[in-house]
Amino acid sequence: MKKLWGGRFAKEAAQILKEFSYSFKVDSELLQAELRVNRAYARMLARVKLISARESRTLLKGLDKIERAWKPGDVCRYFETIEDVHTFIQQELERVAGPVGKKIHTARSRNDLVVTSTLLYLRAKLTELDEKIRGAERALVGCAERAQQAVIPGFTHLKKAQPVLLAHHLLAYVELLDTDRARLGDALGRMDALPLGSGALAGSALPLDRAFLAKELGFKKVSANSMATVADRAFAAETLSALAILWMHLSRLAEDFILWNSEPFRFVELDDAFATGSSLMPQKKNPDVFELVRGRTGVIFGHLMAILTIQKGLPMSYNRDLQEDKPGLFDALRKTDAALEVLRGTLETCEFNRAAMAQAVEDDGLYATDVLEYLVRRGVPFAEAHEAVGSAVRFAAAEDRPMKDLTIKEWRSFSKKIDGGIYALFDPQTSVSAKKTAGSTQPGLVKKELARWQKILK
Ligand code: ARG
Repeated sequence: MKKLWGGRFAKEAAQILKEFSYSFKVDSELLQAELRVNRAYARMLARVKLISARESRTLLKGLDKIERAWKPGDVCRYFETIEDVHTFIQQELERVAGPVGKKIHTARSRNDLVVTSTLLYLRAKLTELDEKIRGAERALVGCAERAQQAVIPGFTHLKKAQPVLLAHHLLAYVELLDTDRARLGDALGRMDALPLGSGALAGSALPLDRAFLAKELGFKKVSANSMATVADRAFAAETLSALAILWMHLSRLAEDFILWNSEPFRFVELDDAFATGSSLMPQKKNPDVFELVRGRTGVIFGHLMAILTIQKGLPMSYNRDLQEDKPGLFDALRKTDAALEVLRGTLETCEFNRAAMAQAVEDDGLYATDVLEYLVRRGVPFAEAHEAVGSAVRFAAAEDRPMKDLTIKEWRSFSKKIDGGIYALFDPQTSVSAKKTAGSTQPGLVKKELARWQKILK
């Protein structure tokens, strides 16, 4: 079997070492990116006359052949006998292109190669994910449109706080997911320096044209320090960190929908295609999509902890520990892609239950702050108004009567500034419409926000 390092060794590696160290099952994922890197490399080698133009063409043809022959699933044929993706391409290139195949790895190490291919791979994946996040955002905007003017109780401490538009609540998640998208974009923006040409750690005594490689492969510049280049996986830590923050938000979105789907709420009804049943209780229709998102968030956080810990305390420069960067990174990218897709479908098809929401905002406590602000508008100092409304809340609770049923005489015992206008305050539309501040749940502003997002996400 092909090996990139046989000469020094008098014996074949032990089978259990091979099984322990081979990475083709995981890094075959990089095959397309690595073929692209090899094409640029074959061109560069001819440019600097380390190989002839003819040899370069033979290598390029060979790389095309390898690409055409590769089928998903091929990895099963090779993962026990081939160490990694780099070895695979080397072996195949020698097979299909002949002896000139032996020149492709000139002045190269797998240490600089693997970082280069991983960055190219990440560039493609993060670009795809950007669109997937936009898709989920679009689905949330669609929910906000369907919600129209529906008002729900907003919560703090999971206790009813103040009425808010359902659309405002949904757009809160659009806001958060869009910052996550920006964070991933920032991470991608820092993956702009070409690693290739750093060699194993020290660079090379051969005249490689790194600037040419950078241009061919779409990097803005060449990396400035060969040791930092092969030693570091901060790009993976940063990607996983941005993904972990995205999942932190997805898990909260999931939790809200789980709550809204529960019997005490019944605000949302999931489409049958995006809900699951129970093997024992025939009546059940469960929100498993959201529970899996909430649960998988833990797995993603685990991958972030892993990539940080893998690198912690490593001496300069490359160490084989770094190979462990890929399983978690690839898994996180796959899981994120899948979660965003299924969330999109679930959100696009769910329906909101207006009657349940209307019932939920028939709770006097939700309007206490509106009474407070009404008093402040009538000249009562804030602290005094707070005290007065608090006393009214306590009085109504002790009497076991809704606040809005207190007589005007009772109300005026708490503040002389109260008049008959107070009764109109106990209304969801009145409450949200009264808001004045930028970014609030005021329906006119929410409508503008909705339009802004529709434009951004078009
Ligand atoms: N598979 C390795 C990694 O992912 C790259 C190969 C470097 N191997 C080596 N023995 N220097 O980091």
